[in-house]
Amino acid sequence: MGTVAVRALDDVTFSLSGGEFCAIMGPSGSGKSTLLHCAGLLDPPTAGNVFYNGMDMTLLPEWQKAETRLFSFGFVFQEYALIPELTALENVLLPAFAAGGRESEARDAAWTALAHVGLQDRASHLPRELSGGEQQRVAVARGLVNRPRIIFADEPHANLDSENSRLILELFRTICDQDKISILMVTHEEEDRQYLDRVIRLFDGRIQKEEERGVT
Ligand SMILES: Nc1ncnc2c1ncn2[C@@H]1O[C@H](COP(=O)(O)OP(=O)(O)O)[C@@H](O)[C@H]1O
Ligand SMILES: [Mg+2]
Repeated sequence: MGTVAVRALDDVTFSLSGGEFCAIMGPSGSGKSTLLHCAGLLDPPTAGNVFYNGMDMTLLPEWQKAETRLFSFGFVFQEYALIPELTALENVLLPAFAAGGRESEARDAAWTALAHVGLQDRASHLPRELSGGEQQRVAVARGLVNRPRIIFADEPHANLDSENSRLILELFRTICDQDKISILMVTHEEEDRQYLDRVIRLFDGRIQKEEERGVT
C-alpha cells in the first residue's frame, strides 16, 4: 500500500486432499482471506506456486484460471453475494449457463443443487424474501451447481445464527463425505472443529501449526 509493503502471506505451504474438510483459522489480518483467494485462483501470489491436480496454475493465462474456477471450483462468501434481482433458482443457474451446454441440463443441475440444500420450495423467491441462512444455502447451491472438486468458503456462517451455522457445516461435511468434494473454509469458530478434518492456524501470514482431526 503506497510505500508500505504488506506481507500478507509469508512462506506458506500446505496441501488439500480429495474429500477433505479443512479450515483456516487465525486472528483478523493474519492472511486467511488472502490464502483462500490465492488457492482459489482469485488473486495471484507475488511469489510461489499453486498446484491443482499436479498442474502449476500460476503459469496459466487468466482465461484458463477462469475456466478452472468455473468448472472445478465453487465459492461461498460471508455476504452471500447473490444477485438481488434474480430468484434463488436463477442465481444457482448463472454458473451453469456460464459453463455452456444445454439449457435443460443447466436447469436440471440447478434444481438438483437447490434440492441438495433443501430449498426447492424457495426456487422462485428473490434473495430479499429469504432469511440469511436460506440465502447462504442458495449461495452453497450456486457453488455446487457445476459439480466442483473444491469449495472455497470465506467465513460462510459468520452472519448466521447457531442453528443455520450448524446446517451449513453439516451440509459441508456431507458434501465432503458423499461427493468427495474438498472444502477449504475460513472460520473463527472453535466449535466448528467437530466437523473438520484439519485446521491450519495462521498468524501474521505464517502457518503457526496444523491440527489433524482428533490430534492437537
Ligand atoms: N487490498 C489490500 N491491500 C493492501 N493490504 C491488504 C489488502 N487486503 C488485505 N490486506 C492486508 O493483508 C493482511 C492480510 O489480510 P486478510 O487476508 O484479509 O486477513 P484475514 O482474512 O485473516 O483477516 C492484513 O494485514 C491486511 O491489512
Ligand atoms: Mg478475511
